[in-house]
Amino acid sequence: MKRPRVYITRMIPKEGIDLLEESCLVDINPEDRPLSREELIDAVRDRDGLVCLLTDRIDSQVMDAAPGIRGFANFAVGFDNIDLKEATKRGIPVSNTPDVLTSATAEMAWALLFAAARRVIESDRIMRSGAWKGWGPLQFIGGDVTGKTLGIVGAGRIGTAMAVKSKGFHMPVLYTNESPNPTLEEILGARKVTFEELLKESDFVSIHVPLLPSTHHLFDRSAFMRMKRTAYLINTSRGPVVHEAELVAALKEGLIAGAGLDVYEFEPKMAEGLASLDNVVCTAHTASATKSSRSGMSVKAARNLLAMLRGERAPDCINPEVYTK
Ligand code: DGY
Repeated sequence: MKRPRVYITRMIPKEGIDLLEESCLVDINPEDRPLSREELIDAVRDRDGLVCLLTDRIDSQVMDAAPGIRGFANFAVGFDNIDLKEATKRGIPVSNTPDVLTSATAEMAWALLFAAARRVIESDRIMRSGAWKGWGPLQFIGGDVTGKTLGIVGAGRIGTAMAVKSKGFHMPVLYTNESPNPTLEEILGARKVTFEELLKESDFVSIHVPLLPSTHHLFDRSAFMRMKRTAYLINTSRGPVVHEAELVAALKEGLIAGAGLDVYEFEPKMAEGLASLDNVVCTAHTASATKSSRSGMSVKAARNLLAMLRGERAPDCINPEVYTK
């Protein structure tokens, strides 16, 4: 039997590649960079399956170039890079990589929270520069964490994991979500509140919603105005949920105390002015970058694609409607 032809748009951890190579002909982008639009369209031609990344825009043009494609396995839990409606219309299954990155992403949200509140990067910078003149009572005074209110915007898997880790810090937890989250309510006594109330009451606001038309620029100037002047914003979800230029203004004007960002509106760029602010901590979209998380993503993407290629339902299919057509 002919081996299915699979393309991987950038090198991923070996575990998933090994799985795919057992039964498929696998080609991988040889460069350690995202494919250009033209390269992506070219690479997908005559393929049976694609492992793609959040940096690849998978739209009707890409689908047109791959009429024989039997599935797109996204190497990410977020899938705003894929035109899901179009894939579903064409009967192409699409999968993502949930669960394996939940803890890693929640841990990163905490890393950013602490780094921003306790001014870790500023302090590190002065140590390295040699400019520190010794201990001082007024130096690097930051925000308290213990006992402060944590606001979780979007209490799905990652938002829940972030919230649960607050237990040792005795933080009242507020959350917004479409439906109530019994885990959070039982374990933490968390309260489901309106977005308005969450903004008004939280000392730390951590974003965990997917990027959708309804969440695009959810955090804009008007949201910052409604937050506490002492509050911190943490974003490990998707950059465009935050209006980044308006965040820069809010941080400059002191509408909020600080921010911790792992994602950006126009990656890999940051909004003008962000890099020169001391009250923001920036990481390079690395929330899922742990060994087990990235190898788990690799294995998941491979297992999903293999199922799609066999014509079976992929375990993490995000458009299961394709199977009922
Ligand atoms: C995801 O999976 O959506 C993250 O943003 C990248 O790991």
